[in-house]
Amino acid sequence: MPISLITLENVIREAGAIALTHFKNLKHLEITKKSPRDLVTEADVAVEAFLQQALAEHYPQYGFWGEESGHSASQTQRWIVDPIDGTHSFTRGQYFWGISVALEIDGELVFGAVYAPALNDYYSAKKGEGAWKNGEPIKVSNESNLGDAMISTGFACLRSYLKDNNLQRFCRIAEVTTGQRRFGSAAVDLCLVADGQVDAFWEQELNLYDVAAGALIALEAGATVTDFQGNEGVFPKQILATNGKILSQILALM
Ligand code: IPD
Ligand code: CA
Ligand code: CA
Repeated sequence: MPISLITLENVIREAGAIALTHFKNLKHLEITKKSPRDLVTEADVAVEAFLQQALAEHYPQYGFWGEESGHSASQTQRWIVDPIDGTHSFTRGQYFWGISVALEIDGELVFGAVYAPALNDYYSAKKGEGAWKNGEPIKVSNESNLGDAMISTGFACLRSYLKDNNLQRFCRIAEVTTGQRRFGSAAVDLCLVADGQVDAFWEQELNLYDVAAGALIALEAGATVTDFQGNEGVFPKQILATNGKILSQILALM
């Protein structure tokens, strides 16, 4: 059965309404730690449970891989879901967090949506058919000078206590760019590259559910998505998305 973009948007927006209910009642939000620096809340669990049930109802032929519940059924044709990307921000009442839903068919990302309910922004893309924000087509920025660029990054590597913790890389690039941001949601970061709000985003030690939807949205908006050596592809452990025009300049500093 072909996927209906309208059906998917309705399902994902309903998931957003569930998340917002918890977001508006943070003082009673149950929060647990998956690891010393990794949180999960009842909102993450509730949103993922809703998405798993609703997507199975509409598209029983696809399997499901969610950050909080793991893998179920077919993993060759599956939904890849991060119910709340940016949980830490969510728990503090900040607005940069998103619901990330991707469809992967035989290893190829064919649909992606990232809904940021607190920002009321819905980003989506279908392979080969472009990227949209709130129903309008979007594309990457035209900035071609790294010195005038705005970049964003994240520090999952700090959570993983990695030796390469991104701090020296960040300082090298911060020194030569005009703007630097750490928004707190890799899924939303990738959409901001797609929308031309930032010119490049990179992060290490992520998982496919963090980046699958956002990477497709960025690619369909004209971004490059590579590892830190410039190899094209979606590599969650080392992802770099750029507007293409500053790729060679930023690779030289990665
Ligand atoms: C996190 C966000 C954050 C990134 C973390 C991720 P989560 O996702 O994407 O930007 O820096 O490494 O874990 O844990 O809130 O789903
Ligand atoms: Ca995540
Ligand atoms: Ca998450």
